[in-house]
Amino acid sequence: MPTVVYQLPDGTTSSVDVPAGQSVMDGSVRNNLPGIIAECGGSCSCATCHVYVDGGSSAEFGAPTAEEEDLLEFLDGVQPSSRLACQLVLTPDMDTITVTVPPADV
Ligand code: FES
Repeated sequence: MPTVVYQLPDGTTSSVDVPAGQSVMDGSVRNNLPGIIAECGGSCSCATCHVYVDGGSSAEFGAPTAEEEDLLEFLDGVQPSSRLACQLVLTPDMDTITVTVPPADV
């Protein structure tokens, strides 16, 4: 099962085993981690699941869809590694994925 390492806004780190087929957002919300709000429940319309994907992990996910890119474009604090966590679906061949959850004001 893939492991997602969440680097949280308070400086702590949380490692969660997330089943394949679930998203990076699911792993955070289902384990009550702070930072990923996921207001829209994963339908790629709220952008409250913004994360930065660690360089080594980013290649494991496909490129963002046009819909995701449109939302990312208007976020504060957007970086080349920015993704929406609800669009990052884990697959069985993934090992460890590391993401950084930005502070609430980013
Ligand atoms: S949860 Fe709303 S865009 Fe990801």
